[in-house]
Amino acid sequence: MRQVHLAVLLGFAAFATALPSPSTTHYNHRSTKDAKVLILGGGVAGVIAARTLHRKGIDDFLIVEARDELGGRMQNYTFGVPGKQYTIELGPNWIQGTQTGSGPTNPILTLARKHHVKNEYNDLYGNITTYDYNGLKDYQNIFDTSIDQFTQIVVDAGERVKLQQVDLGLQSAYGIASATPKNIYEAVCQYYQIDWECKFAPDQNSWIASAWNNNFTFDVDMGGFSDENNLCIDQRGFKTIIQAEAAEFLQPEQVSLNSVVTTIAYSGDGVTVTLENSTTLTADYVLCTFSLGVLQHGDIAFKPDLPSWKTEAIQSMVMATYTKIFLQFEENFWFDTEMAIYADKERGRYPVWQSLDHVKFFPGSGLVFVTVTGDFSLRIEGMEDSDVQEEVMEVLRAMYPNITVPDPVAFHFKRWNADPLFRGSYSNWPPSFLPGHAENLRATVDKSLWFAGEATSLKYYGFLHGAYFEGLNAAKEIAKCVEGPACTGREHLNSVVDASPYPFVSITP
Ligand SMILES: Cc1cc2nc3c(=O)[nH]c(=O)nc-3n(C[C@H](O)[C@H](O)[C@H](O)COP(=O)(O)OP(=O)(O)OC[C@H]3O[C@@H](n4cnc5c(N)ncnc54)[C@H](O)[C@@H]3O)c2cc1C
Ligand SMILES: *[C@@H]1O[C@H](CO)[C@@H](O)[C@H](O)[C@H]1NC(C)=O
Ligand SMILES: *[C@@H]1O[C@H](CO)[C@@H](O)[C@H](O)[C@H]1NC(C)=O
Ligand SMILES: *[C@@H]1O[C@H](CO)[C@@H](O)[C@H](O)[C@H]1NC(C)=O
Ligand SMILES: *[C@@H]1O[C@H](CO)[C@@H](O)[C@H](O)[C@H]1NC(C)=O
Ligand SMILES: *[C@@H]1O[C@H](CO)[C@@H](O)[C@H](O)[C@H]1NC(C)=O
Repeated sequence: MRQVHLAVLLGFAAFATALPSPSTTHYNHRSTKDAKVLILGGGVAGVIAARTLHRKGIDDFLIVEARDELGGRMQNYTFGVPGKQYTIELGPNWIQGTQTGSGPTNPILTLARKHHVKNEYNDLYGNITTYDYNGLKDYQNIFDTSIDQFTQIVVDAGERVKLQQVDLGLQSAYGIASATPKNIYEAVCQYYQIDWECKFAPDQNSWIASAWNNNFTFDVDMGGFSDENNLCIDQRGFKTIIQAEAAEFLQPEQVSLNSVVTTIAYSGDGVTVTLENSTTLTADYVLCTFSLGVLQHGDIAFKPDLPSWKTEAIQSMVMATYTKIFLQFEENFWFDTEMAIYADKERGRYPVWQSLDHVKFFPGSGLVFVTVTGDFSLRIEGMEDSDVQEEVMEVLRAMYPNITVPDPVAFHFKRWNADPLFRGSYSNWPPSFLPGHAENLRATVDKSLWFAGEATSLKYYGFLHGAYFEGLNAAKEIAKCVEGPACTGREHLNSVVDASPYPFVSITP
């Protein structure tokens, strides 16, 4: 294998010298560099970028990953009392948008099929039980109305685009559609459509971008896959799709695990990446796939500092937090639908429940989980597990006033925002994030520093398939650079300007 590797290298050397020299030629320094391309991060974007380079005959790359395995946010956990343990997913769980007939396939579904990773259709909208703080409460009609309202808002967004009207927040969209929630039932149903499904509160979601994000994945007429969500229940973990895929092409010397990046130095002439233990790695190109949260938090030192257009783009997208809290009980005493919602007096307080002890998932498991998001996630990340458990149990006991709800036998949740390798769960497009920002988030700096990951996806930000397509596309463009001098990288705008500046700027008071 080493020989193939070398042959590929030599092949490119010959190719490069046969061409007229570009102004800053990298090829002269080849022998002194550790790799042609460093791929920082071994999540979906990083692994698919590596596969893309490999398929283009470029094997001189190195994946640098802080954790001890590939997969990134795809993380499972062995949960439950001895003898009754299950592999559950702390991160992504659904293949969102599958395939309609022989139409376009979500590439995540393609990987799941290829590696026989078990997944089941999860009826998120038609199989739900509704509760409030006094127990069972039927507001199914409100739930159904909230689905229609969201559909209408997505259609209205299309009208705004046609009429070239400015973007607004989803909060405004609900107001304009006379659909602003007026009681706790309408509020929890809206929460389910927006905060839970779109990741963040309505005032932090762009109306147009979230409509597109929805359409491009779920609406077949807009090139989407399907409106279905499949829950992964494979006991090897959902990450198997990416680990098994990597095993097919990745050589041991092409990946460096347990390697935490601290500094990325870049110039028109290449890059030097420094690890926590002071080891340095050099290359012609670096593809950074770290989560937006990591970039926003300043965990990586860039040398020189990133240009202001890049910093603005990074700081203008929002990193959301989505927390799944798992419980196991001796036996199932809850709803027999797949989903349930709970309307609390406080919006966002333990609102969305999913039964895993269900005939389609893990029957007999005694497993159920509840999801919280946004500020509520941050709030519970700061609390002790036992205090969170107590709050969750208070809610469950309110949902079931007529039975004696026992304490759970197991309890677990992951603190995604506190994790320095992620600092949140996935990105969200706020109304103040403009298309120019999106372009700048993906743009190359000094031809050598590239970015990819779920957050750089215009169509599928937040999703696994967003990370997949971004890794694929960035690597295709990097490959063009590796193969020849006709490489400009991805363009950026020096500043994102308002097409219609505020008139009072020029008005004297
Ligand atoms: C709780 C949760 C639920 C989700 N649910 C779904 C879902 O159901 N369906 C769906 O499609 N998507 C879902 N997502 C989103 C999905 O997980 C992401 O879109 C996708 O995994 C992102 O892949 P990535 O390659 O862009 O980034 P990552 O997976 O974050 O990969 C980046 C890698 O960089 C590494 N890294 C970070 N810092 C450093 C450093 N300093 N040095 C070295 N390595 C570093 C990280 O360890 C990581 O492996 C969910 C995410 C979360 C957290
Ligand atoms: C993830 O699942 C695999 C396969 O069941 C298991 O070996 C591994 O320990 C799990 N990871 C964690 C952190 O529990
Ligand atoms: C929910 O789905 C189950 C099968 O998974 C079915 O038996 C049940 O009738 C459905 N309930 C509702 C309310 O649709
Ligand atoms: C609980 O029991 C009371 C009295 O029997 C009954 O009125 C009420 O509907 C029950 N509540 C639920 C949620 O089952
Ligand atoms: C989303 O899809 C709907 C239905 O196909 C369409 O009417 C609407 O214009 C689309 N929205 C956007 C923002 O493109
Ligand atoms: C530093 O970490 C890298 C990558 O994990 C490893 O290859 C190298 O041997 C380490 N160097 C030292 C000095 O520990």
